[in-house]
Amino acid sequence: MATDPPTTNAMAKIKSALSKLDKKSIRQWFPATTYPTDPAVVRIVLMHISVLRTLYYSARFKGWCLIARGTRLKIGPGSKIQFAPGAFLLMGFLHYTPTPCSVHLGRNATFSVVGTAHIRRGARVFVHDGALFEMGHRSHIGDCATVTCFEHIKFGDESTCSWNTNILDTHAHEIIVNGVSRPISQPVIIGNRVLIGSGATVLAGVHIGEGGVVAAGSVVNKDVPAGAMVGGNPARVISEEVEWIP
Ligand SMILES: CC(C)(COP(=O)(O)OP(=O)(O)OC[C@H]1O[C@@H](n2cnc3c(N)ncnc32)[C@H](O)[C@@H]1OP(=O)(O)O)[C@@H](O)C(=O)NCCC(=O)NCCS
Repeated sequence: MATDPPTTNAMAKIKSALSKLDKKSIRQWFPATTYPTDPAVVRIVLMHISVLRTLYYSARFKGWCLIARGTRLKIGPGSKIQFAPGAFLLMGFLHYTPTPCSVHLGRNATFSVVGTAHIRRGARVFVHDGALFEMGHRSHIGDCATVTCFEHIKFGDESTCSWNTNILDTHAHEIIVNGVSRPISQPVIIGNRVLIGSGATVLAGVHIGEGGVVAAGSVVNKDVPAGAMVGGNPARVISEEVEWIP
């Protein structure tokens, strides 16, 4: 009795599976607002992706976890990367530094991603035990930036933290001033469309309002009002009305 060659059977199965996909189920995985659509980005991703790790972590955390070759990803017991529907996390792609990126989640830590978030080459992200780190749509952590999260750090949509910046929500040590113990960590909340200039440091407890700009090399230890530009050490308001194009 004649049997179909195995390739024909496989093709038939793929065709049948594809025919069952309606637009709704496809959009669930690829909502239009969260594609990494820029062709240059797609090309770089395809050239540098670590296929097996991408497939493994994407399946494990049920989201698109695109990992460049060389990226150091360490995930402690009970920790998770939480993806909103259709979210993409790109780790270690782009840009101009040869050093790979490193992402380390301690125990029971959560890294939450909405939309398309980038952690660029050379960046180092550490999320301590039980802490929460959130990245919004089109948010970027730049080359050689460091993020040290002991409690809660949030990057809003379209926020960029530039090269060599340092964002931390902790002193990482107990500091006692005139006999009074300072809080070891306090959340850092970075609003939507915030630009943190190269080499700036954002310290524990700071909230940066929507559209804020931090000048290069500043040390931010107080809240930044929405739409303001701050600079210096300690950072002071330079302008109360600033706009920038992501
Ligand atoms: C903040 C910034 C945007 C200001 O640009 P600008 O408006 O052309 O700056 P100006 O030279 O007109 O300076 C305006 C005022 O801000 C001050 N200022 C500018 N840059 C500063 C800085 N990095 N730190 C402290 N103060 C700063 C100036 O001294 C000046 O103050 P004054 O009016 O009292 O003299 C720019 O200096 C900067 O830091 N850009 C960030 C670049 C960057 O890191 N890009 C990363 C892209 S991913």
